[in-house]
Amino acid sequence: MEFQSVIESTPACRLYRSDPVPDDVLRRILDAARFAPTGGNRQPVRLIAVRDAGLRQQLADLYLPLWKRFMERYAKAGVTPATSRMIANSDVMAENLAHVPVLIVVCAVLGDVLATDRQLDRLSIVGGASVYPAVQNLMLKARDEGLGTALTTLLCYVEADVKKLLSIPDDVSTAAMLPLGYPAQAFPKRVYRRPLSGIAFSDRFGSPL
Ligand SMILES: Cc1cc2nc3c(=O)[nH]c(=O)nc-3n(C[C@H](O)[C@H](O)[C@H](O)COP(=O)(O)O)c2cc1C
Repeated sequence: MEFQSVIESTPACRLYRSDPVPDDVLRRILDAARFAPTGGNRQPVRLIAVRDAGLRQQLADLYLPLWKRFMERYAKAGVTPATSRMIANSDVMAENLAHVPVLIVVCAVLGDVLATDRQLDRLSIVGGASVYPAVQNLMLKARDEGLGTALTTLLCYVEADVKKLLSIPDDVSTAAMLPLGYPAQAFPKRVYRRPLSGIAFSDRFGSPL
């Protein structure tokens, strides 16, 4: 695919077919993650491609109640499956997660994550910057191969359970879980995002480019 088209048309895919993902395709997608930048090139990312049906079911069982709780929060704000396609599709994804052929659990070796903002009196952001570029590489490569993904982080609430289930060592943390499979609907031509003028400035924050 043309590069610009890949980056403009990689959505959070929430409706999947259950067709298996061929091994060579899976390897190419995971391989793309390796080439992302990481602080000090310490490469803390580890990826677990969960294909075992029993394990997928157990991950799905952990995910569903977390999603339902999240959905309640949306509902209180008046956002429901009836008013938001995103919520409706996310609900379908949560209910059918066990049937997505691959669930990729993204992990990070915390000792290899450089977070230069750790001492600041605010939420640390930099640590994730050694992990999520790899996730984005993977998502873009999946799109290029005709497969959908969705970056999810709800399972981090129950990290201890996920670690036990997948034998993740003590010094390794979880960062995301991405379903991976062939989409049940056509990809959008272009995902909806703020215009460039809303996010990019010239010289000073807020000055038009
Ligand atoms: C940090 C982060 C966490 C997310 N967690 C979840 C999640 O737990 N479940 C989910 O369905 N989507 C999750 N998403 C996906 C977002 O909802 C999605 O990227 C956003 O709605 C844009 O969707 P689009 O690319 O289809 O326009 C997450 C995205 C990010 C970046």
